[in-house]
Amino acid sequence: MADRISAVRGMNDLMPDASALWQFVEATVAGALSSYGYREMRVPLVERTELFARSIGEATDVVEKEMYTFEDRSGESLTLRPEGTAGCVRAAIAGSLLHQRGQRIWYAGPMFRYERPQKGRYRQFHQIGAEAYGFDGPDVDAELILVGRRMWDALGLDGVSLRLNSLGTVESRARYREVLAAHFADHHDQLDEDSQRRLERNPLRILDSRNPEMAALIAGAPAITDHLDEASAAHFAGLRELLDAAGVSYTVDPRLVRGLDYYTRTVFEWVGTGLGAQDAICSGGRYDSLVEELGGKPTPAVGWALGLERLVAMVEQAGTAPADREADVYMVVADEALLPQAFEIAESLRDALPGRRVIAHCGGGSMKSQFKRADRSAAVLALVLGADEAAAGRIGLKVLRGDAAQETLAQSALAERVSALLADS
Ligand code: HAM
Repeated sequence: MADRISAVRGMNDLMPDASALWQFVEATVAGALSSYGYREMRVPLVERTELFARSIGEATDVVEKEMYTFEDRSGESLTLRPEGTAGCVRAAIAGSLLHQRGQRIWYAGPMFRYERPQKGRYRQFHQIGAEAYGFDGPDVDAELILVGRRMWDALGLDGVSLRLNSLGTVESRARYREVLAAHFADHHDQLDEDSQRRLERNPLRILDSRNPEMAALIAGAPAITDHLDEASAAHFAGLRELLDAAGVSYTVDPRLVRGLDYYTRTVFEWVGTGLGAQDAICSGGRYDSLVEELGGKPTPAVGWALGLERLVAMVEQAGTAPADREADVYMVVADEALLPQAFEIAESLRDALPGRRVIAHCGGGSMKSQFKRADRSAAVLALVLGADEAAAGRIGLKVLRGDAAQETLAQSALAERVSALLADS
């Protein structure tokens, strides 16, 4: 036997037994977004490297060490997208989306980061993201958070909590950065190696450290919420008012800084339960300068992205997804000569019962082995086409679950009977 070729580390296959759960989550999220008027946008998985370097920031972990970057055959540096916001902004500028005020879009698909794989952290992972362009007030920040709440409700999740912070403007953040850097520089000997490196490049990221030995030092650091410019403080207060009025509970966490550099003002993170260390299921914020930095006309923007692997894991634990089965109806065919007729019956059932799954057995085999397959498919009903029934325009029907009743009936009455038997399954 030839050697097997293994998958790339940190990149997962989605097998058919799991796909119904994913589709349920994806459809629920898309449905929630659509109910707020968000429309889907699709952009390439590959962009020029420069797009990410300029938007996410040269001094971030993502750009410094996590990107899949390569030269194409003409020597151009390209990168597999590590996130979706930058590509959407590029496309929105190119597609003149920003000439009209107030755009709401969403996107979905794989993202790529060369991180150390662990539970909830992969090198190819999947996001669904939402972005709103052209709104400068806190109303749309609140709206994006309400979409989140609606999604968790629709998925039957109750263990999701919201952390909220404001990073101010580029200028006020730069001032805060100085204050913070001075604080940590005063305690240089207490900084771990990672934080010492961050002190030079990106001191705000020290606040993100998960090292328990750093916790006290970080708790004693000046809070960004005390260093906001007036307009950002008003924006943040406006957002909090809207969330309070809508009954959304949240914690203000001045240490929430995010790992991407484009954020201004609002940042937030929805945190799940039962996920281990990688428990942020949806994160985002405002990025009012990015469109201009990428060559568009100044346009305020805000959005979030959720990690599907983490969200699916939470929904799976909650057990709230509808049960999946391969088929609703499985047709057993006694004799290969009857296949044309079996296919015809199966086709007319599919016509009559849209949304129902009808499998006509393929691959031959004894009746016993075909019934085994029917059982394994978890179908509710088996249909049996034998030579005698076929000749008489009839067909056998067996309820596979529950009372295991069996009957034969006219083929012309089949669709109605099947529909009735499936009605509450
Ligand atoms: P992010 O926080 O880097 O933000 O990623 C968003 C979400 O993607 C995270 O909360 C997490 O659920 C998931 N995620 C991130 N990295 C991984 C990974 N290696 N494996 C599995 N899941 C992961 C962004 O990407 C921003 N573009 C969000 C945004 C949109 N901000 C404004 N608009």
